[in-house]
Parts: sequence; C-alpha cells; structure tokens
Amino acid sequence: MATMSNGAYAAAYEQSISDPTAFWGEAAKAVEWITEPTTVLDDSNPPFYRWFAGGSLNTCFNALDRHVRDGRGDQVALYYDSPVTDTKSQYTYAELLDEVARFAGALRGLGVEKGDRVVVYMPMVPEAVIAMLACARLGAIHSVVFGGFAPAELAARIEDATPKVIVSASCGIEPSRTIPYKPFLDGAIERSSHKPQTCVILQRPQVRAEMGERDVDWRELVEGAEPADCVEVAATDPLYILYTSGTTGRPKGIVRDNGGHAVALTWSMKNIYDIGPGDVWFTASDVGWVVGHSYIVYAPLLVGATTIVYEGKPVGTPDASAFWRIIGTYGAKAMFTAPTAYRAIKKEDPRAELKEQYDLSGLKTVFLAGERLDPDTYHWADDILGVPVVDNWWQTETGWPIAANLRGLEPMPIKPGSPSVRVPGYNVQVLDDTAQQVPAGQEGAIAIKLPLPPGTLPTLWQDDERYVSGYLSVYDGYYLTGDGGLIDEDGYVYVMGRTDDVLNVAGHRLSTGSIEAALAGHPDVAECAVIGVADDFKGQVPRGLVVLKAGVDAEAEGPRITKELVQRVRDEVGAVASLRQVDIVGGLPKTRSGKILRKTMREMADGKTPTIPGTIEDVTVLDRLADVLRGPSA
Ligand code: COA
Ligand code: AMP
Repeated sequence: MATMSNGAYAAAYEQSISDPTAFWGEAAKAVEWITEPTTVLDDSNPPFYRWFAGGSLNTCFNALDRHVRDGRGDQVALYYDSPVTDTKSQYTYAELLDEVARFAGALRGLGVEKGDRVVVYMPMVPEAVIAMLACARLGAIHSVVFGGFAPAELAARIEDATPKVIVSASCGIEPSRTIPYKPFLDGAIERSSHKPQTCVILQRPQVRAEMGERDVDWRELVEGAEPADCVEVAATDPLYILYTSGTTGRPKGIVRDNGGHAVALTWSMKNIYDIGPGDVWFTASDVGWVVGHSYIVYAPLLVGATTIVYEGKPVGTPDASAFWRIIGTYGAKAMFTAPTAYRAIKKEDPRAELKEQYDLSGLKTVFLAGERLDPDTYHWADDILGVPVVDNWWQTETGWPIAANLRGLEPMPIKPGSPSVRVPGYNVQVLDDTAQQVPAGQEGAIAIKLPLPPGTLPTLWQDDERYVSGYLSVYDGYYLTGDGGLIDEDGYVYVMGRTDDVLNVAGHRLSTGSIEAALAGHPDVAECAVIGVADDFKGQVPRGLVVLKAGVDAEAEGPRITKELVQRVRDEVGAVASLRQVDIVGGLPKTRSGKILRKTMREMADGKTPTIPGTIEDVTVLDRLADVLRGPSA
C-alpha cells in the first residue's frame, strides 16, 4: 500500500513488519534491563507471542530510580492540580521515589509479594499513582478500577483478580457532589466471594470513611514502613491487569507485561508524541482507563518527563478555561484528552475566549483519542489553538496507539476524520467476511495480523481460551479489533466505530451486558436490551428497551418503573453509564434462535436502513418498535 511518506516513517514501518526482531531489539536499548533478553520475539507457541523472553527488569526502577540516579532527582516528576479540592502540590523524582518506596514497604508489610494482585480503586490523586508504582516495584500486579464504577462492576473485578489487598480512598469528588467510596467498596466486597485480606484507605478531609476490621489507614501504615527496593521480574511477568468492557457483563482482564510495555511506551513517547526528558506533558483522563495507565503514569515517567495529575473536569471546575489554565501554569508542551472533553469546552465557550488569559505559547501539539474524532471537533480545536490536533486510535487491549500521526518520527499531513497511518509494529488490514483484504477505500472489519507488537495484551487474565475465542478466532492469524473502517489509497486509516455491542460513552468504554444485567434485575422486567445511539456531546449514549412481565400495567406503572430502572443502572454500574432513557416496549426483535437484534435496533435509532436477517422471529415487532426508536430521544 502507498503511503505519503518516503522517509523515516516508511522505513520504520517496513522494518517493524519485515524484521520485528531487529526493530524492537533496537528500541529495547532505551530500557534498562537487569538481564538482557535472550529472544526479542518468542513465536514458538502461536497464537501466544512473548516479547523479550529471558529478559528481566523492574518497571518502577525505569520510571523513577533510574532518573534519580542519573541526576534528574530534583526535576518535578508529578504536578497534582485539583480545583475540586482547591489543592496543588508537586513531587520531584526523588520525592516520588521516596513515597513509592515507602508505600511499597507498607504493602510488603501487609504480605504483598511478587505476583500478588492489588486492586486500586481511587480518585485522581497522587496516591493512586504511588500505589500503582509501588506494586510495580514489588512485582505485584495492580488492577486499577475506575472510581466511577459502582459496586457490581467493582465486585466483578475483585472476583476475577482475587486481590490480597485493595487500596482505596474515603471519597471521590465530582463537581456536583462528593462520592463516598467506602460504602461502594464494602458493598463490592460483600458481593464478591473473594475477600481481600486488607483494605488500605486514604482518608480525605471531605469525607471520612468508617473503618472496619480489615481496613487500615494509609498514613498510619506508611508512617512506620521501611522503604522497599525494586524486585526483579521477568519481562514477560504481568505488570497489571486492566479490566475492560466486552459485550457481555463479565469484564475482560487485559494483561500487560513488564518488558514489552516499557519498550513500547518509551518508543511511543519519542516517536508518536515527541516528548522526552524534562518536557511537561498533560493527559486529562483518569488512571482508571488505559489512557491514564499509559500516558498519565507510565510513559511520561519512563522517559523522564513531568506528568500532571488533574482532578477536575474540562468545564465547571470552575469553568471552561481549566485545560488552558493547566497548560499555561505548568508550561505543558503537549496535552492528551478525549474529543468529548473538547466538545464540552466548545459548548461552554464556543470561541474559546477564556484561553486568552493564559500563555499557551509552549503548547506544541494536542492529542485526542478514546473515541472517534469527528471533523467538527477537529476543526474547532485546530482553529482555536493553532497547533496540530492529532487523533490517535487504540484500545485498552493494545495499550498504545495502533494508528497515529507520528509527530516525533515523521509528522505527516493530517486528514480530518482519520487517526492517520498504521503505527510501526501494527500490521493493520481491513478484511471482508471471507478474510480477504478489501481494496483501498472500502470498509470492512479492522484486524491486525499477528504477532501484535510489544506492549499489547499477551492474553486475558487466567483465560487463554477467552483471549483466543474473543479476539483471534474470527480470522485465522489475525487479532480482531472490534472496530470497522477502511484504509485509503494514502495508507490513512479511518475508524468508523465498533461492529459489536461495546459502548463508548463520553470516552468511557462500557458494556451493554452489564447495563442489561442491571435492568434485568428489576422485579417487573421480563426482558431487556441496551443499544448505543449517537449523541452530539457524548458521542454515544445507551438507550434501554424493556418488556414488562405479564400482568404489570405499563400505563399506570411505567413512569415509576422507568425511573427505578435509571436509578438501578446508576447504583449497579455507575452514573458514568449515563443511561437517561428507558422505553417500555411490547416485544424485542429476535432471530428464530432467540438472539436479540441489537444491531437492527441501533440502525433504526440512528435513522439508517436496518439490516433485517432472514431468520427473524416476528417481523411485526420491528414495526411496532420503529416509532419508539425513531422518536425523539430524551
Ligand atoms: N466517579 C464518580 N462519578 C463519576 C466519575 C467518577 N470518577 N466520573 C463521572 N462520574 C459521574 C458524573 O458525575 C455524572 O454524574 P451525573 O449523571 O450525576 O451528573 C455521570 O457520571 C456521567 O459522567 P460523564 O459522562 O463523565 O459526564 P460529565 O458531564 O460529568 O463530563 C466529560 C463530561 C466530557 C467532561 C467527561 O465525560 C470526560 O472528561 N470524558 C473523557 C473520558 C476519558 O478521559 N476517557 C479516556 C480516553 S482519553
Ligand atoms: P478503550 O479500550 O476504552 O480505549 O476503547 C477502545 C475503543 O474506543 C476502540 O475500539 C474504538 O472503538 C474507540 N476509539 C478509541 N480511540 C479512537 C479513535 N481515535 N478513533 C475512533 N475510535 C476510537
């Protein structure tokens, strides 16, 4: 396929595919190993591939100790800026190392050793980063759960990861309210058959948590702790598990290894994001999402940059100038967030007048990811900021970009609507139903030819079978991304959206299955379906359709039931699901084998011509649904 590059990008891409060992062997030199890997790519057991086999290292050492040793100890590693608590603080590399080593010692005192799991359920505070790095230091495996998830989601993750310890805080702070975490945490532990030995609770002044028998106070614990040294781990040992939503209610435990992760993220900072030692980098996301793991915590620290932990929103904390204030105050060279955050700013301050108060001259690039960057938002950001606005496409599974405009390697023209080109290491192809590559410009399923590059998931946590059946079984020799799209004649990738039932609501990945499970638990509901419908602000929002049990009077009871259903989803999945609309319907369209036709309903709700399979059970159900689905959304 042609590309618009005749230079560094074309050469790097070509080598990464034809000779991955040479390409990634070279990239691995940027990481400090305890034992050099013996094999760059271990392909002896396909479809399971392992990177840097035989090598050993410690990720925390590469993120902190190494920089302190090399003279970067006084540089700020982390700025914490929290308009919601009116707090600002900073940690130099030496200070952050000290905090992390002491918390690692504290965890060790609780019995946490290499390979043990630690769940981290925290708001956006520096202690969340400290807890993650402390686990990495011990070779323990962290599993961070987004603070916006309610007990059922947290419980599913505790059940699967079986943590020895959970690290949490007394509360999170949303602009409209303070959210006590402890009742959520206790509720989740109660639901889970696995019980952690200890919960470490960071008490915040806004809400004090009631401490129970298994709870210990973060500060008291750390006070008497001995700092712990880095533990040697194999490159292929897990660094973390991050659960993500599939189509069913059971989340998928994405495993990230130590060696491949350190190599890939380090490579990405230089070549994609053009960030190096001493640069200030601002990612506005949450440590509970993959963007937070990779680009708030690990990547900036691995390269000796300065990261910013921002506890607030793009708007309302206190206004739509929040991002510009952060960029101006700390002199950020680049920022990274989700397009929905820019849409929020655009809605409040359409001409971005608030940014005039700040000096943004240091800002060189804005990176956006997490959902499709619609051309309107792209043009708006590009016009108001006057710096390249760079879309990049990836997933929790990959941990770093699959397609991007590589600002450090070879900046290329930007085409609105496209995250640009395939990143070296990713042999991205667009396939049809018969596993044939489609011609340039034609849509199909986006798949990646195996092996995936370093830093991507080697498997799912303790579930090789689900890894194979969920990702590798549709096209032999390929990883299925779950996204549909095309590659044009210049090699630019266009990602049109998920082809499955995974939802993307304001950059938050959610499962239709868990929202359905919450709806189905209501005593008056016989069956239900959740579909994602297009939304100007959040990109997509869920919409619930429920059939009531026989004998329930829909007319009289409907308003009460729908209100309770919306509340159930907030209580079980979290407010972040943003389910506002539930319609009571007479029936759901199904195939004769009983499969609910969500795609057909989605198309109807989006005003498209629906695909109606020949095996539909009862066509009249669709006619009756048409008015509901095409009617106004709430
Ligand atoms: N803890 C508890 N509740 C949370 C939460 C958290 N960490 N995050 C969000 N919520 C709640 C919100 O308070 C809101 O509650 P409400 O319905 O009572 O108002 C609800 O969940 C929906 O939240 P959200 O979808 O985030 O809407 P919002 O209006 O609060 O904020 C954006 C909109 C665009 C600012 C926000 O969604 C955002 O920053 N998205 C980017 C996500 C992201 O970073 N993704 C990773 C890829 S970069
Ligand atoms: P997550 O695992 O939460 O990062 O979500 C991954 C999904 O978000 C992808 O499979 C896409 O559907 C969507 N996504 C992420 N980034 C982009 C992007 N730049 N363009 C289009 N879709 C994106």
